[in-house]
Amino acid sequence: MQPIRTERTTITAAIPADSAALARYSVRNADHLSPWEPERPEGWHSESAWYTRLVANAAEVRAGRYLPLVARLHDETEIVAVANLSNIARGVFQACSIGFSVDAAHEGQGVMREVLEAALGHAFSEMGLNRVMANHLPENTRAAGVLYRLGFEQEGYARRYLKIAGVWRDHVLTARVASQEAAAAGAEGVREAAATARVV
Ligand SMILES: CC(C)(COP(=O)(O)OP(=O)(O)OC[C@H]1O[C@@H](n2cnc3c(N)ncnc32)[C@H](O)[C@@H]1OP(=O)(O)O)[C@@H](O)C(=O)NCCC(=O)NCCS
Repeated sequence: MQPIRTERTTITAAIPADSAALARYSVRNADHLSPWEPERPEGWHSESAWYTRLVANAAEVRAGRYLPLVARLHDETEIVAVANLSNIARGVFQACSIGFSVDAAHEGQGVMREVLEAALGHAFSEMGLNRVMANHLPENTRAAGVLYRLGFEQEGYARRYLKIAGVWRDHVLTARVASQEAAAAGAEGVREAAATARVV
C-alpha cells in the first residue's frame, strides 16, 4: 500500500521496522487503552513482541486478510494513531472489521477522525470493500462519537461479545456501508481487473 497523506498525518501499513515505535506507542498508552482492550500478557508491549507479531501477521497481510495501519504526524517518528483492518473477507461479503486508537496526548483533536476517514477511503475505494464494521463497549462514548460522525450506524447489540480487560462484555455493533457511488467505482475496478486478467 502506498502511504496516505492526510492534512496532519501520514498513514502507512505497519511493517516489522515499526516495532520500536509501536512498542513506545503501546507503553505510553497502556493506561489509556487498557479499559477498552483485551488483557495483555506479560511482555506484550515490548519491541521484540511487536516484531514477532508483525512478522507472524505478514502472511495474513500478503493474503489480503489483514491490514494494520499506523499514522504519524508529518515529519514525526512517533506513532499518533493506529487503525487495524481485520477479518477482511471477499466473495459475496466484501467486508472487514476496524479497530482503532489515538495517542492519549492527541485525543479530542480530530486526529482519529482524520486517520479513520483516510482508512475508510482506502477500504472502500482502493480495496473495493462494501462494509466496514466496528464494535464498541456501550460506555465508550468517544469511540461511538467518532464512529457516528463518520457515518457508522448501529446494527445490533451483542451480549458477552468480547473479553475486554478480562471480562466478557456486551458490545454495540456498528457498520458503515459503501456509498452507491463508491460501490459503482468498485464494481468498475473489478470489471477492469477481470478484463485485464482475461487479456493476460
Ligand atoms: C476512541 C478514540 C479513538 C476517539 O478519539 P477522539 O480523539 O475522541 O476522536 P476524534 O478524532 O473524532 O476527535 C473528536 C474531538 O476532537 C475535536 N476536534 C478538535 N479539532 C478537530 C478537528 N480539526 N477536526 C475534527 N474534530 C476536532 C472535536 O470537537 C471532538 O471533541 P470532543 O471529544 O470534545 O467532542 C480515543 O478516545 C481512544 O483512542 N480511545 C481508546 C481506544 C478506544 O477506545 N478505541 C476504540 C475501541 S472500539
